[in-house]
Amino acid sequence: MRLAERMDRILVETAFEVLVKARELEARGRSVIHLEIGEPDFDTPKHVIEAAKQALDDGWTHYGPTQGQPELREAVAAHVSQTRQIRVGPERVCVVPGGKPIIFFPMLALLERGDEVIYPNPGFPIYESMIRFMGATPVPMPLVEERGFSFDLDLLRDKLNDRTKMLILNSPQNPTGGVIPAEDIEAIAEMARERDLMVLSDEIYSRIHYGEKPVSIAGFPGMLEKTIILDGFSKIYAMTGWRIGYGVMPEWLVDAVNKLMVNSNSCTASFTQRAAIAALTGPQDAPEKMVKELHRRRDAFCEGLNGLPGMRCAQPQGAFYAFPNIKGTGMRSKELADALLEEAGVACLSGTAFGEYGEGYLRLSYANSYESLMEAVERMWRFLTG
Ligand SMILES: Cc1ncc(COP(=O)(O)O)c(C=O)c1O
Repeated sequence: MRLAERMDRILVETAFEVLVKARELEARGRSVIHLEIGEPDFDTPKHVIEAAKQALDDGWTHYGPTQGQPELREAVAAHVSQTRQIRVGPERVCVVPGGKPIIFFPMLALLERGDEVIYPNPGFPIYESMIRFMGATPVPMPLVEERGFSFDLDLLRDKLNDRTKMLILNSPQNPTGGVIPAEDIEAIAEMARERDLMVLSDEIYSRIHYGEKPVSIAGFPGMLEKTIILDGFSKIYAMTGWRIGYGVMPEWLVDAVNKLMVNSNSCTASFTQRAAIAALTGPQDAPEKMVKELHRRRDAFCEGLNGLPGMRCAQPQGAFYAFPNIKGTGMRSKELADALLEEAGVACLSGTAFGEYGEGYLRLSYANSYESLMEAVERMWRFLTG
C-alpha cells in the first residue's frame, strides 16, 4: 500500500530523534547531558495536579464542549485581555490538545495550493512541515543575529505580495531565544494591516522572558481581526504531557476550528481543562519561580558558552534556549552537534534542525539543572580544546 502523496511533504522534529540516539548511548553506559528537548525540567505546580485529581473524582471524565469548557474559555479570555492590551471574550477562544493544533487547524482551514506563508527560519520546524503538508508555499524569512534574531523588515516588505495568506511570528522565539522588539512588531502590523492575510502569532513562551516584555501584534490597531494567538500551558506551567493549549482568533475562524476539532478530537480532555483553570486562576508563584531560575541559568550558561573557543552566544531574551554562533569552530552545525553527542556526551541540536538559515548555530536548551549546564560547558571545552 502506498501512502498518500501528502505524506511525502510532512517533516518531523529532530529533537525527538536526537533524544532516541542519546538514550541508546546511555543504554550502553555512556553519560549524556540532555540539552536537546524543549521542555521545562520543572514539575507541574502541585495545586494543578490536585485540581486534576479532584476533577477525576468529581466525574470530569466525559465528553465536553468541542470549543472548550466555558469556565476555562472565560479564564483564558480574561488572561489574554489582561496580558495583551486587547479585549476579547470567551467566544474567540478555542481550547485544544496543546499549542500545536493552533498551527495545524487554522492552516487546514485557511491554506490552499499557491498560497504563500512567510515564516521565521530558523524557526519551530512544525511551521514549515505544516505549510508543505497543506500544499502551500513556504517563504522562509531569515532571522538576523545582529538584530536580536528579528526579521530584516525591508526583506519582509519585499516578500509580502498578493499570494501571502499567512505570516507567522514567534516571540520569544524557538530556537533563538530572541524577542521581537515592540517597534518591529508595530512596523510589521503596519505592513499587514491593509493586506488580506492572517498573522499566526505563536506566543507560547510569552511569559518566559528576562527583559523587555514581548508585545503581541494583536494589540495594534486593526490587528485583532487579523491575528491568531497561539498560547497554552505546556511551557509556563510545565505541562507538556497534559496536552492542553488554546488559540484566540476571530469568530469566523473559531467556527472552522470547531469543525476540525469535532472531526478529529471531539473535545480536549475534560479533567485537564479543570486543571488548566486552576493553573490560570490559582497562585502564580511556581511559574514565577521557574522563570527566575531559568534567568539565573541563562546568565551563567551563556557566559560559559561565550568562553568557548569559536563560539559566540547572543544573550537570549526569552524562552529557554541558547543559540550560539559556532562559525568560529570551523565545523558545520550538524557535524558539531553529532560530535558533541558522541564524543563529549552533550546532546543538543544543529541549528539546521530549524531550517537552512540555522547553519552556523547550535540550539542548547537550558531547561536542565545549573550543575548539569556547568558540566556541559566543561565537556564542550574539553572537546573543543582537546
Ligand atoms: C514555538 C513553539 N510553538 C508551539 C509549540 C507546541 O507546544 P505544545 O507542546 O503545547 O503543543 C512549541 C513546543 O515546543 C514551540 O516551541
